Amino acid sequence: MPLSREQMLVEMGISPLWMLREPVSSETPEPVAVAAPVAPATPAQPVLPAPIAPPGAVAEFDWPALLAGIADCRACELCKQRRQVVPGVGDRNPDWLFIGEGPGAEEDARGEPFVGQAGRLLDAMLEALGMTRGNKVYIANAVKCRPPNNRTPEAAEMAACRPWLERQIVLLKPRVIVLLGKAAAHTILGNDSALAAMRGKRFEYAGIPVAVTYHPAYLLRNQFDKGKAWEDLLFARRLLRSGNT
Ligand code: URA
Ligand code: SF4
Repeated sequence: MPLSREQMLVEMGISPLWMLREPVSSETPEPVAVAAPVAPATPAQPVLPAPIAPPGAVAEFDWPALLAGIADCRACELCKQRRQVVPGVGDRNPDWLFIGEGPGAEEDARGEPFVGQAGRLLDAMLEALGMTRGNKVYIANAVKCRPPNNRTPEAAEMAACRPWLERQIVLLKPRVIVLLGKAAAHTILGNDSALAAMRGKRFEYAGIPVAVTYHPAYLLRNQFDKGKAWEDLLFARRLLRSGNT
């Protein structure tokens, strides 16, 4: 059963006051009021390394070619234990692109990212923003195949998988990218700083504004940081609305 708005607010750890200031269904893009202090955006973030050009033909792939290429990919060891690849899901003309780490057991079984417990929290976060997966939202991962025992993907595995993600981003042209956790920050920004140090800052990837926040699986274990994740999502929405995309 879908969560009621109130249940969802509780789930997100957000007091109703927050939502009164930032109505979910507001159609007019207004300046966002944030109830809790957010670290100010640092306007001039260092420009990030240019995306690595995908090798060979990947840079020319359209969606069918890209999905076929991912399905056949053997570029890293993760291909060995996958049941199937998990390329991504959602609107192919999105405003938002969320990037997680890698598929878990449920995702490996279903072929869709974020369908387990962490995915339910991600859906609640989207709902809090008045969005649903598939409607102006695309969800992908740093690696397309499940790492054994849900371990964090290794840097080499993420590097092997990166051309697929890069091509996805080119085809998707999102207006804002939200990186969920350190692995996504590593692969997209080449940044291994502590997550807390990356929050609330405007990064950029190929001219697209990028925000970093906690991974939903982390939030399941650290409930008190859900409010911070909510601040990060509002920050990302401000990046999107600022229109410099
Ligand atoms: N965690 C992730 O990072 N990605 C998924 O698809 C599921 C859980
Ligand atoms: Fe290919 Fe990425 Fe799967 Fe590795 S994780 S086999 S690079 S699709």
